[in-house]
Amino acid sequence: MQFTFFKTFCEVIFEYFSTMENEKYEMLAKTFFGLEEVLANELKEIGAEEIVQHNRAVSFVGNLETMYKANYLSRTSLRVLKPILKFKVQSPKVLYKNVKKYDWKSLFSLKDTFAIDTVVSSEYFTHSKFVALRVKDAIVDRFRDEFDERPNVDVDNPTVRINVHIFNDSCTISLDSSGDSLHKRGYRTASTTAPLNEALAAGMILLSEWDHNSDFIDGMCGSGTIPIEAALIALNIPPGYLKESYGFVKWKDFDSELWESVKSGVKTKTELNFNIIASDKSPDAIAASARNIKSAKLLKYIKLEQKYFDQQSSNSGVGTLVMNPPYGERLKEDDLNLFYSEIGDTLKTNFAGFDAWILSASFSSMKKIGLKTSKRLTLFNGALECKFFKYELYHGTKKIFHDKE
Ligand SMILES: C[S@@+](CC[C@H](N)C(=O)[O-])C[C@H]1O[C@@H](n2cnc3c(N)ncnc32)[C@H](O)[C@@H]1O
Repeated sequence: MQFTFFKTFCEVIFEYFSTMENEKYEMLAKTFFGLEEVLANELKEIGAEEIVQHNRAVSFVGNLETMYKANYLSRTSLRVLKPILKFKVQSPKVLYKNVKKYDWKSLFSLKDTFAIDTVVSSEYFTHSKFVALRVKDAIVDRFRDEFDERPNVDVDNPTVRINVHIFNDSCTISLDSSGDSLHKRGYRTASTTAPLNEALAAGMILLSEWDHNSDFIDGMCGSGTIPIEAALIALNIPPGYLKESYGFVKWKDFDSELWESVKSGVKTKTELNFNIIASDKSPDAIAASARNIKSAKLLKYIKLEQKYFDQQSSNSGVGTLVMNPPYGERLKEDDLNLFYSEIGDTLKTNFAGFDAWILSASFSSMKKIGLKTSKRLTLFNGALECKFFKYELYHGTKKIFHDKE
């Protein structure tokens, strides 16, 4: 009899925890413009459901495991949010009232800290700092009413990071499960001018449909972001392999066993039977790349060469080249046009058999590449609109000499 009671009690406890673990809810992963489809595919691969693409974000449904995987495995996510409150709002008073109604102590306690990030695009609220202040007041007042005390704010390293998004009169309050932005992989110890965001670089490689089985080249590698992300993809090394912490590890429902199983469940490769080549004309860029490749633990997998692009080539006759040449902040237009025309010459003569992808914000200069494009995509590098064009190069590729591309 006693035994039966004990068993039932254990079962109840077990069921309680497995329900928590398996409870499904909506989440939102943020990304760059132009990478929504790539991110949706990544989320599908990790088992997310009800995936919907939005502008610079993808919503999906999943459980705790999906959340851990989205943070650890998705290369194009910037952060993963878990919405906890949605309401209509047209005034600070309604904002305060709705936030105060929420049972915040279910998420964190008096000894914990919190921070508030706001994204506001609304005729009813013009100052995002003011929104953050009202939300903070509402949370603090809710705690004070219940305990006569309040938790503190810590903007740098809070227990819980709260994201407030107001678009017109719709407010969504979410928990930020990522903490630091996911593009901060942890390998960037050195930088050059205009390094690409890591998530954008990964997205470009995934968009290029490189087969991870043939040569990969970046002939203007700067600090090495593109070749490093390419090696991580080819070796199936998670983008979060060096990241020290995530927002969700401080949450009340953190499941360390599940988290460890997500991390140990990844099967990485240790050998590559093709080349990943990174080159740049600048010794400083090569030094920065070398440092970053070393801290990424990828020295064995990336060949680093200091050379001008017109000296770069591949003798394998098949592969993918992805690079972002300078946009010309420092070059005069005529020089920039000539520079891009020379890139086209090098692609044509040295890379027959390759797919080449060029990212640039200098649209007029891109026309001077003078090769037929087979795909034309738009991406944003920060606030800067860029074109990401594909050129399929074959023996006998001809340059085309008109500006109407
Ligand atoms: C926009 S940066 C690339 C940034 C890089 N993707 C990163 O994430 O750090 C352009 C790079 O092109 C290099 N570059 C410019 N002209 C070159 C040439 N003719 N040959 C090789 N590299 C060149 C510059 O030295 C610079 O490092």
